[in-house]
Amino acid sequence: MKKQLPDDFLWGGAVAAHQVEGGWDQGGKGPSIVDVLSSGAHGVDRTITDGIQPGYHYANHDAVDFYHRYKEDIALFAEMGFKCFRTSIAWSRIFPNGDEHEPNEAGLQFYDELFDELLQYGIEPVITLSHFEMPWHLVKEYGGWKNRKLVDFFLRFSEVVLKRYQHKVKYWMTFNEINNQRNWKTPLFGYCCSGVIFTQEPNPEECMYQVLHHQFVASAQVVKLGHAINPELQIGCMIAMVPLYPFSCNPDDVMYAQEAMRERFLFGDVHMRGYYPSYILHEWERKGYNIQMQPEDTALLREGCADYIGLSYYMSNALQADAMGAGTALAGFEGSVPNPYVQASDWGWQIDPVGLRYTLNVLYERYQKPLFIVENGFGAVDKPAADGQIHDDYRIAYLRSHIEQMKKAVIDDGVELMGYTPWGCIDCVSFTTGQYSKRYGFIYVDKHDDGSGTFARAKKQSFDWYRRVIASNGESL
Ligand code: BG6
Repeated sequence: MKKQLPDDFLWGGAVAAHQVEGGWDQGGKGPSIVDVLSSGAHGVDRTITDGIQPGYHYANHDAVDFYHRYKEDIALFAEMGFKCFRTSIAWSRIFPNGDEHEPNEAGLQFYDELFDELLQYGIEPVITLSHFEMPWHLVKEYGGWKNRKLVDFFLRFSEVVLKRYQHKVKYWMTFNEINNQRNWKTPLFGYCCSGVIFTQEPNPEECMYQVLHHQFVASAQVVKLGHAINPELQIGCMIAMVPLYPFSCNPDDVMYAQEAMRERFLFGDVHMRGYYPSYILHEWERKGYNIQMQPEDTALLREGCADYIGLSYYMSNALQADAMGAGTALAGFEGSVPNPYVQASDWGWQIDPVGLRYTLNVLYERYQKPLFIVENGFGAVDKPAADGQIHDDYRIAYLRSHIEQMKKAVIDDGVELMGYTPWGCIDCVSFTTGQYSKRYGFIYVDKHDDGSGTFARAKKQSFDWYRRVIASNGESL
């Protein structure tokens, strides 16, 4: 009987290329969809602009300058004892427009050097192929993932990087939080997941499912291809897991929450089981949706089941059947109402550590495949105190309580968990708001929403705390 986390547990941290790198037009990189996404604020939407437009601030252009400072940052990750580091490859560094036949060598070289730097400290890279960015040209010219041609472009990109880095990178994921775009009413999600603004489509929901089908097929093909290139590679999917509880034991709330959870399980079901579940086929039939598929797709989905489930976990939500359509959506979840048993962050994300244990159990019972928590964390405004230090005890409290529940899932419940990489291990640009001020890091970056700052790095209080957590394999919390 396990009393501790396994010795090879992958402790680390996570970021994504566009949220840290900067250098948006350097080394032959082409513009990505995020390069034309302006910064917003809490309650102020980011604007998707047609090209780079005057009068807008694009925080991702510089991000936190990881492109030039990654050696300094990796040395800090090593000091914390990271066993792994999750980031993504910016597609437009490798194929600036996305439809070229030959990759950009300077872009490939950048990631070679980045991975070498990690490996010399014994830090395993964990790489997402598509984390909310793609060459902008593929959106302008082809309409993004609405177009089946994107499957081929993505496969070409994936083949190049899987072959090139197969001996440096063992752990891969295909599409980050692929299920975010299920919320097709919020333009940002579809835009970042697939380059499509669903609300501009004649039938947004049907279009969303068509896009998803293309991505499911692409993901399955990448899994097959990766295993053919090197059978050692572990290729996972990646799902944003927000457990949706029934607000009460009113059977209508229970049923509503179960239906709402299908919006998440659909993604696990197709990636891990390799076929569309009956509930979605019946929904398509009921709504008269006609999702275009090629004859070979059924076999491809079955042959390309993912090796593990990467998941993000930040919050839970409680749903009330009566609140559906009442405009109470918390953090974008229709029918959600405040849960009186939990508190929320300044951005309204409800903090629920037990929900993490619940989530891990639900996923493991359903799929019986390894899980990997590749995002979890607390976005907060950090202010240096009079002594110049960042005392982020609130972040430590959040992470501690989640790690406690994670350990229960592994040690008491027997969930097979590969690792834990808290989000934004170094401060970076927020995805939903484009802010610097929504910080997650153990490492503070002196960069601010008004564009000021030096990019200087500083350890927060949580830095030493997390170092001790890793050194004790989660025993010292
Ligand atoms: C996930 C994403 O949605 O959550 C990350 O995979 C993102 O890219 C993270 O940054 C936290 O969200 P936010 O909006 O607080 O940055």
